[in-house]
Amino acid sequence: MTREWVAGLRVVTGAGDLLDCNRGLIKNATGYDLRHLFVGSEGTLGLVVEVDIRLTAPPEPQRVMVLGVSRFRDILAVLDRFQQALTLSAFEFFSELALEKVTAHRKLARPLSDQAPFYALLEFDASAEDKALGAFDTCVAAGLVTDGVLSQSDAQASALWQLREGISESIAACTPYKNDLSVRVSRLPAFLDGIDDLVRARYPDFEVCWYGHIGDGNLHLNILKPDALPQDVFFERCHEISPEIFARVAALNGSISAEHGVGLLKRDFLPFARSAAEIALMRAMKAVFDPAGIMNPGKLLPAA
Ligand code: LAC
Ligand code: ZN
Repeated sequence: MTREWVAGLRVVTGAGDLLDCNRGLIKNATGYDLRHLFVGSEGTLGLVVEVDIRLTAPPEPQRVMVLGVSRFRDILAVLDRFQQALTLSAFEFFSELALEKVTAHRKLARPLSDQAPFYALLEFDASAEDKALGAFDTCVAAGLVTDGVLSQSDAQASALWQLREGISESIAACTPYKNDLSVRVSRLPAFLDGIDDLVRARYPDFEVCWYGHIGDGNLHLNILKPDALPQDVFFERCHEISPEIFARVAALNGSISAEHGVGLLKRDFLPFARSAAEIALMRAMKAVFDPAGIMNPGKLLPAA
């Protein structure tokens, strides 16, 4: 998360105070860390005017692998086997529909000769390649993976990354209704169990496009608007069904916005992710930092 890399923040609050939060310090135990209050506040408390971001050493050369996986749940078994064998720097996934959209939009070659319902994309240090190939063999032997491809150069690695990174842009023309869900990685099996069936049953006439950062417990569930349906009718229908999906997320103590924020679209669903006590405290903080309610009004916090 970006917040992990923010070492200092200068912020002007809604009340007009200039705050110098954390000042780039590595160690600072002087009470409330206001820096973390502003990161993710979506501009509702103040305006960030300067940021100190931590630097890190460049990684060693990376390899990228794309695997075909037959069942949603099996993606987690694949993650488990690879994590037992080596340290991964990324573990992403996407569905066949997502692959169709991105290959058509960016005019890319398919990564594997045969289609699979789902694909996992893994990234790891080049020096761990043998371990990764060993994990691949165990996954194939266990029937978890149907096929795979491994980058042989940085150019091939970035070409494979395009298959994942280009998805969001490739579905933009379909006016997607975006869900950005997360649960603890240990709860992903419980979450994935039946979620695809539920979504398909509730959206029988819509295309459902799954992808995301599954190694972080973060799934993007995008519902694509049929061309003929007006946008307001489409969003209305998605909003009717969202509570069923969010209730499953809430039952597993997950989040309804892992990385995209709450804004207006998810605002009224905030109680699925934050308790009444938390929301009351958030409102109280908003009143302290922005007493006149001038900072990004109407966003994030549901009406009282
Ligand atoms: C992604 C952006 C949409 O994962 O969060 O592609
Ligand atoms: Zn994402």
